[in-house]
Amino acid sequence: MALPRLRTVAVVAGAALLTRRALRRRIARSPLWPMPALPEPISGHPQRRATSIRRLLITERASVAEGVVQLRLEGTALPRWQPGAHLDLVLPSGLVRQYSLCGDPDDPGTYTVATRLVEDGRGGSREVHEQFQEGVEIEVRGPRNRFPLVEAEAYVFVAGGIGITPILPMLRSLAARGADWRLLYGGRSRGSMPFLDEIEKLGAEGGRVTVVAQDEAGHPDAVAALADIAPGTAVYCCGPEPLMAAVTAALPSGCTLHLERFSAATADAVGAVDSSAFEVELHRSGRTVQVAAGQSVLAAVREELPHVSYSCEQGFCGTCQQRVLEGEIDHRDELLTDDERGDSMLICVSRCRGGRLVLDL
Ligand code: FES
Repeated sequence: MALPRLRTVAVVAGAALLTRRALRRRIARSPLWPMPALPEPISGHPQRRATSIRRLLITERASVAEGVVQLRLEGTALPRWQPGAHLDLVLPSGLVRQYSLCGDPDDPGTYTVATRLVEDGRGGSREVHEQFQEGVEIEVRGPRNRFPLVEAEAYVFVAGGIGITPILPMLRSLAARGADWRLLYGGRSRGSMPFLDEIEKLGAEGGRVTVVAQDEAGHPDAVAALADIAPGTAVYCCGPEPLMAAVTAALPSGCTLHLERFSAATADAVGAVDSSAFEVELHRSGRTVQVAAGQSVLAAVREELPHVSYSCEQGFCGTCQQRVLEGEIDHRDELLTDDERGDSMLICVSRCRGGRLVLDL
């Protein structure tokens, strides 16, 4: 009786071995080999691949204005950054939110961010304020810089509220090298405006800083701030959308404009209106999803791949950028460069011109 059982075991083991070898040969011949070891499926886009997750410790938390907390994050071998850069914070819920780095780029093991609690926001700032305490370890990606400080003959900055955060390291850098700069800084009240003391000290010489607190003097006047600037001036603005629209409209010719958005420019950017249905193949996952009219590609993809990265869902943060292997893209963002548009899309807003897209997911 023992011999047939032994023969059966040997046959099963041999078949398993052959199957394993055949699988190995197939994997080795696959164009996808070697497969990246990723905790979750993300785009094959090289820029996204380079943006790995790292864990940092919150070593200090401070209130720097009404409703604004500053977090000091420490880790080892942190990538260097330049003024204007931001960090993606992975929140406990899995949401990803962008926060500008507002500390010292020359401080090697530390990143500093500040965030305002938005009472009627989508929940990201509340998670930061309620759950990111000293001693908590958090996950971050980046830094990335879509708002770099360019070389210019002179600089004018217009900041609204928490929009000062990407601009502050620029001011420190320009002040240190004696550059020609001016700042118009607006906010609801002086108490709600972070870093006010430091900024006023930086600009004390030559009256470089104009502070406009709404409860004292109304809204900042972007037209007046840009009225007499010389050609060659670089104008930087970060703040509420109406302020950025005013700066854009008032920009004199011969000057360059640099905007940092933390909210969508217009409702059209959502891109879910006037849209027809199409199909999206997720190449690496071997699955296909149907994107309904009025539904975003991101929403459809998340039904199959719930861990796919995203944040703003409005086409301005770049978190959801994915590589496209086939199909004609209907780009609906203002973020990607022409180069990036060649083979990638922001799946939270962009769509398909034909009936089918193939994503490297
Ligand atoms: S999630 Fe921010 S651009 Fe798509």
